[in-house]
Amino acid sequence: MSHSDEITAVLKEHPQARRDSLIPILQQIQDRTGFISPQAVQMVSDELSLPTSKIYGVATFYNQFRFQPLGKFHVQVCRGTACHVKGSAAVLDMLIRELNIKPDETTRDGLFSLEIVACIGACGLAPVISVNGEFHGGVTPDNIKKILDSYRAQAQKDQSQNDAQEDKAK
Ligand code: FES
Repeated sequence: MSHSDEITAVLKEHPQARRDSLIPILQQIQDRTGFISPQAVQMVSDELSLPTSKIYGVATFYNQFRFQPLGKFHVQVCRGTACHVKGSAAVLDMLIRELNIKPDETTRDGLFSLEIVACIGACGLAPVISVNGEFHGGVTPDNIKKILDSYRAQAQKDQSQNDAQEDKAK
C-alpha cells in the first residue's frame, strides 16, 4: 500500500470526522506509517477543513508524534527507573552526540532514529537500549560507538548485497 493509500484508509475509518477526531487520526496514521509526513498533514487538513498550521500546532504539543520516518535502525533508550539509576542519562547523551540528532529525530542518511522509552521490561540488564527490538544490556557511554558501528557495518553489508543482486539482474 502506498503512503497516501495508508492515510486514505485511516481517513475512511473516520467518516465525517471533526476536529475532535484529529488526535486519534494522527495516532492511527503514525501507527500505520511510522510518522506524520507533510502529505499526511495536508490530507488531514483537507479532510477536517483545518489549516495545516493548526494541525502542526496540535501535533507538536503532544510530543508523541514524530515528523520524520524511522531510521533503518530504530534505537530506543530506556529511561525507566532501573536504567536511570544505572546511568541511562549518560548513555542517552552519548547517543545524541554520536548520532548528532535529538530524540524523535532520524539521521540524515536515514540509518538511525532515536526514541526515549519507559521501562522495556529488561531491568536486570540495566541500562538497556534496544535496536530494532534487539536488546543491548549493561551499555555504557564508552561502548555506544561500538554498538552503532556494528549496525553501520550491517547496513554496508546489506547495501553491497543489494548492489550485487542489482548487478546480476542487469
Ligand atoms: S527500567 Fe529500563 S528496562 Fe526496566
